[in-house]
Amino acid sequence: MKKSICLLPGDGIGPEIIAQGVKVLEATAEKFGHEFTFETALIGGAAIDGAGDPLPEATVSKCRGADAIYLGAVGGPKWDNLTPELRPEKGLLRIRKELGLFANLRPAMLLPELAGACLLRSDIAAKGLDLLVVRELTGDVYFGEPRGIETRDGLRTGYNTMIYNEEEIRRIAWVAFETARKRRNKVCSVEKSNVLECSRLWKEVVMEMHREYADVELSHMYVDNAAMQLVRDPSQFDVILTGNIFGDILSDEASVITGSLGMLPSASTGAEGPGLFEPIHGSAPDIAGQDVANPLATILSAAMMLRLGFDMAEEADLIEKAVRKALADGYRTADIMEPGKDLLGCKSMGDKVVERL
Ligand code: NAD
Ligand code: IPM
Ligand code: MN
Repeated sequence: MKKSICLLPGDGIGPEIIAQGVKVLEATAEKFGHEFTFETALIGGAAIDGAGDPLPEATVSKCRGADAIYLGAVGGPKWDNLTPELRPEKGLLRIRKELGLFANLRPAMLLPELAGACLLRSDIAAKGLDLLVVRELTGDVYFGEPRGIETRDGLRTGYNTMIYNEEEIRRIAWVAFETARKRRNKVCSVEKSNVLECSRLWKEVVMEMHREYADVELSHMYVDNAAMQLVRDPSQFDVILTGNIFGDILSDEASVITGSLGMLPSASTGAEGPGLFEPIHGSAPDIAGQDVANPLATILSAAMMLRLGFDMAEEADLIEKAVRKALADGYRTADIMEPGKDLLGCKSMGDKVVERL
């Protein structure tokens, strides 16, 4: 099969980790007789420096014309003092919005090969962790209006708007219920309906949607409790359905239970058009350019691209197996290092995965 992939390496460790993912995709294509073509475009700080805009029009049209988009990460201290509209992060938010990528799937799994890197007590870790955060991605305080900083009563005042309409809630709830049916049939909707009107509507609409999914077990949890339950007993969760900001925070928390932020992939999809596949972590400026970043979240995002974007389940399985094999063989990057294992850099870890395909 022929597929075109738009690469958005971005900033910080972005180019290093995307290079490893591309190696894995090329080796997979060769093995299965596919033809993957790659075109690179600017986003984030790299695009601000190169084109004066965190999301140049040329990038949007390259993305629209591709079968899938593969993103590293954006942002860094160099651009932290720019106005919000010009920050690297705005490039990522805009591409999600422009392509209608409202559903962000973030699977978190505790691989047996990495049990030793899990930060939880061993009896809790032994119960396992295999959950999926279904995070709404194009609404909430991220995009709500009005927003701004202004002077009120002589004081500098910052404000944002948490906002969802019923249609936005319905379509993400639909994704969660449908996905749960292919997993362990459980959805936990996470909100803050004891305080926020936006969350009250969220809960109401999710309950209405549930009438069509009576076979799926639905529970509701306040976000503060959910943050606590995630580390107390993560095995209780199957699908976590939540809004943009809560999903952002809870997925970073879930990642570290699996060993490291550097392990979690994600897929952002919409009703139509190409999906965007990216690790959940950021540009890690503290380790950028040192060849020490963990490329596995990015490599696993490539597997999600093949499975969800191209309907290539066998190919995706192979990549996931190769990652697990590299871990089983004792290879580790610094973030998941354990005593007695082999410490590798970003590039060598990519090589180990390719060798095991
Ligand atoms: P971060 O995720 O970049 O890093 C947090 C910590 O995790 C750092 O110590 C980092 O070294 C470590 N880490 C992250 N990825 C790693 C990997 N693959 N291997 C090993 N260690 C890894 O979050 P931050 O430091 O809060 O943000 C840095 C920049 O990234 C900011 O500009 C932020 O806005 C941006 N950001 C971008 C994305 C994205 O592009 N999707 C996501 C989160 C943050
Ligand atoms: C993520 C990031 C982004 C988000 C930022 C960089 C805009 O943290 O992809 O998780 O908050 O969605
Ligand atoms: Mn995040």
